[in-house]
Amino acid sequence: MARHGDRSEDAVVSQPQDRPISTIVIIIAMQTEALPLVNKLQLTEDLEPVFPKGVPWVRYHGAYKDLNINLIWPGKDLALGVDSVGTVSASLVTYASIEALKPDLIINAGTAGAFKAKGAAVGDVFVASDCAFHDRRIPIPVFDMYGVGLRQASSTPNLVNELNLKVGKLSTGDSLDMSPQDEASIIANDATIKDMEGAAVAYVADLLKVPAIFVKAVTDIVDGEKPTAEEFLQNLATVTAALDQAVTQVIDFINGKCLSEL
Ligand code: ADE
Repeated sequence: MARHGDRSEDAVVSQPQDRPISTIVIIIAMQTEALPLVNKLQLTEDLEPVFPKGVPWVRYHGAYKDLNINLIWPGKDLALGVDSVGTVSASLVTYASIEALKPDLIINAGTAGAFKAKGAAVGDVFVASDCAFHDRRIPIPVFDMYGVGLRQASSTPNLVNELNLKVGKLSTGDSLDMSPQDEASIIANDATIKDMEGAAVAYVADLLKVPAIFVKAVTDIVDGEKPTAEEFLQNLATVTAALDQAVTQVIDFINGKCLSEL
């Protein structure tokens, strides 16, 4: 006879993989990217903040179909008034959101640069298979791998097939431009897409064992002729529309499914 606390053979323990996903946290760095989705999903801004007093982080939330959706935007930098982009804010809001909301799944959505040499074009929407950093160079054995910080995204073969999304590796750094050293690291990472948050979100999600997926829409071609900042700003509005449409499709696909069905 099984003692109290033993897991007997017929005691079925429901794994998170085997029950429908219920609570989702969507992390989006820029207000321009976030607000159309907030409106589309009819989310409302939190009136009783789950985050520490004084931080600029914003939670929009609501019920959508069978899902409890939380869209987290790191907000505007308190001193400069611009979006809090980059890895520091991304990791902080990911940590705080997981602690406060205990999500079944994290979706990091945003715009990205991409390589035409890898078959990418402006307006493409990618799901990242892996995330790594390209600006944490530590040329000492093992620290070098720690710096790269490679992490796999949750596997979503059915989702990418059904929604016809491209799949590629994502490389993350804290600069919009690309120095020659960054370029060498991105190539070493075998990346197709380049952003400023993904690997940081992946690090925290992995640390706290929450599955995470990465949906990135391409605003600029980093191995093209146009200056990155110019091309990014030029395409931001139209590509954001493509991103929001893809994220909505991703959420519709997730609704009612378990992680293992994605
Ligand atoms: N977001 C959009 N374009 C980007 C780029 N080229 N690098 C990093 N993040 C981006």
